[in-house]
Amino acid sequence: MEIDNGLALRIGLSLLAAVIAYILLVKSKNKSGERASNEPAVTVTARPGKDPAEEEFSDEPDEPVEDSDDEDPGAALEQLPRIKLDHEPVDGEEMCRRSQHFYDVMKKRRTVRTFSKRPVPREVVENIVRVGGTAPSGAHTEPWTYVVVSDPEIKAQIRDIVEREEEVNYDRRMGTTWVKDVTLLGTDHSKPYLDEAPYLIVAFEQTSGVRPDGKKKHHYYSRLSASISAGMLLAAVHYAGLVTVTSTPLNCYAALRDLLERPATEKAFLLLPIGYPSEDTTVPDLVRKPLEDIMVMT
Ligand SMILES: Cc1cc2nc3c(=O)[nH]c(=O)nc-3n(C[C@H](O)[C@H](O)[C@H](O)COP(=O)(O)O)c2cc1C
Repeated sequence: MEIDNGLALRIGLSLLAAVIAYILLVKSKNKSGERASNEPAVTVTARPGKDPAEEEFSDEPDEPVEDSDDEDPGAALEQLPRIKLDHEPVDGEEMCRRSQHFYDVMKKRRTVRTFSKRPVPREVVENIVRVGGTAPSGAHTEPWTYVVVSDPEIKAQIRDIVEREEEVNYDRRMGTTWVKDVTLLGTDHSKPYLDEAPYLIVAFEQTSGVRPDGKKKHHYYSRLSASISAGMLLAAVHYAGLVTVTSTPLNCYAALRDLLERPATEKAFLLLPIGYPSEDTTVPDLVRKPLEDIMVMT
């Protein structure tokens, strides 16, 4: 069969044009997809599947610190002089009594959001913070700072920072599930306790420290260590007969650090009003998981 050269050329060119058009179409689709995922995040909108609270809770330092040569912190501890453990042996019966007593005390701890203005001795707050300072920490780096605020002016500024952000959290930033969950506990964007409680403790995690030579000191497991310390501090607040709210004011941490003049290597992670409960305090009737749901014995 004879082939018309002109016709063959026209068919060939049409096929080539169709292939090029297809390639261009696919490329442009990919590009528009890339653009969508590279768009700047809209910080006030909760993204499906993402928890803005988790995103803010990275324990990476906000600003890089000059790294130091790796040193072995374990070796430094080995070089410390050793002392005899200060430990009082307790017999089994006494141990049971003490552990029961401690549990009986701790089970009455509740989060309280309504405070009295009744003053609290400064010495008590110092002891509470001292307890936080007894916590274990990665390689004994003690990566925590507790800023204790009693000045009414600074408390008012903290309240202003928190309430402005909480309004956005409730209205736009967080999803409806979050709003429903926290509203069940009786919370909203208004935080009068930040003025009323005699003390506010802002807990900072030190993401790194500074060595005497000015270089970066590694802080191992800094968020974990600081959280354990804060947990012990919470127990001390309760044991002293005071109350607090373990609060995590979303998106306020940088502003709190600036206000309280802490360095870039510190990240605020808890805001704890400390004081007496107001006379009319009520708390949600929560039920705690029984032992068999939280302990697995093998
Ligand atoms: C990590 C953490 C973050 C919390 N953040 C807040 C908060 O921002 N605001 C608040 O009112 N309560 C906050 N709470 C308190 C919890 O709502 C409270 O512990 C919980 O409802 C159980 O109540 P209870 O503490 O009385 O047992 C927080 C608690 C934890 C442990």
